[in-house]
Amino acid sequence: MRILVIGSGGREHALIWKLRQSKQVNKIFCAPGNGGISAMAESVQIKPNQHDDLLAFARDNQIDLTIVGPEDPLAGGIVDKFEQAGQKIFGPSKAAAEIESSKVFAKQFMTKYHIPTAPYKVFDNLDEASQFVGEVNLPVVIKADGLAAGKGAIIVNTVDEARDTLQKIMVDKAFGEAGNQVVIEDKLIGEELTLMAFTDGKSVLPLLPSQDHKPVFDEDEGPNTGGMGAFCPVPFASDKLVEMITDLVLEPAIRGLWEENRPFRGILYAGLMITDFGPRVIEFNCRFGDPETQAVLPLISHDLAALCMAVANHNLELDELNFFDRFSVGVVMASGGYPGSYDKGKLINGIDRAISGNRQVFHAGSTFDNGKYYTSGGRVLCVVAQEDNLQDAIASAYDGVNLIEFDNAHFRKDIAARASRRRFRFSRQV
Ligand code: AMP
Ligand code: GLY
Repeated sequence: MRILVIGSGGREHALIWKLRQSKQVNKIFCAPGNGGISAMAESVQIKPNQHDDLLAFARDNQIDLTIVGPEDPLAGGIVDKFEQAGQKIFGPSKAAAEIESSKVFAKQFMTKYHIPTAPYKVFDNLDEASQFVGEVNLPVVIKADGLAAGKGAIIVNTVDEARDTLQKIMVDKAFGEAGNQVVIEDKLIGEELTLMAFTDGKSVLPLLPSQDHKPVFDEDEGPNTGGMGAFCPVPFASDKLVEMITDLVLEPAIRGLWEENRPFRGILYAGLMITDFGPRVIEFNCRFGDPETQAVLPLISHDLAALCMAVANHNLELDELNFFDRFSVGVVMASGGYPGSYDKGKLINGIDRAISGNRQVFHAGSTFDNGKYYTSGGRVLCVVAQEDNLQDAIASAYDGVNLIEFDNAHFRKDIAARASRRRFRFSRQV
């Protein structure tokens, strides 16, 4: 197989690392890729939103399968375009991707198919939304309808804060057209959990449960980022809880999208809050999560290329996935200042020392020049380690982090720490 991966982050680096283990794969291209990816795939200088150019590249280079990383090209209909042209591609159609690209659609869909989620209301009028936040119990969460690069959900604690936020989203258009409508929903309390699944539109194969760490500082302080680390499996997520989420969330979603004539093929990502009353959906994504994918992929014991090809052929034949019986922990190293402004072009040392049989370094914002790596983004690297127990996996990931240096690097010191301490109602049997 000749494979084209679209994207340029740590998620895409992890996908390519896993694809390279497949005996069926003999050539991988990545558009546009990054410094780390360039060592294992051929970089193609086409941007993810240049759908026509990507299609022409796939045709001209006898690509057997294209795998889409980020949500933007999916929401823009790249899969429809490739399928119409007879090119195999892994990912949902534009209509199915609306489960992520419109929060209003996602909430109304969940209501219709009885998928548990926070109670909510939808507004397209500022005055009505402002009046509503004066009448409800706070805190609530205000969400722009459209894609906002993970920054479109804001928790507000006072009426003033709520009205300010509504003004920013709906009038000042902080997220552009994504703010034409807002969802206002109850704030949920519990532990967050990610459950991703492969699906061909009919059957659902859940991956291991994982957990992201969005806030920039330890103990979940500070502003949200694209994700500062992730680990899997999650000790509090027992097999029974995973089964419950599959039955209550993933399967009804896939059946519902089929009934709505929007068959979903690819990875369905459920972002959940595990409350005292059971799991509730915070959001659906239409793609692999970042950085969860960097932690999850090393534990899948299947050929990733074969799995993605089966989905692209609309024919997943497996009944369930198998995983290595280990824990995987990923720690993101970011540029000083991230998620605010940050410098680029800092020399990165020690990457090769940090890589071993049980430890990978996936690049997000890096470039490669004359044999050296330099920073080029906010999130720079994700160091991922696998060990037999969670404590050892945490220790190994941080050993790797400590071998790598660049000016002003920062990272959270507590990835997976709370989960490794905490007892929880739904805990795994040990
Ligand atoms: P979203 O953009 O919907 O993924 O939300 C981003 C983050 O905001 C989530 O990962 C949660 O940490 C938080 N969040 C969103 N909705 C809720 C909610 N209803 N209750 C509590 N936290 C939420
Ligand atoms: N980890 C959150 C996301 O991929 O959107």
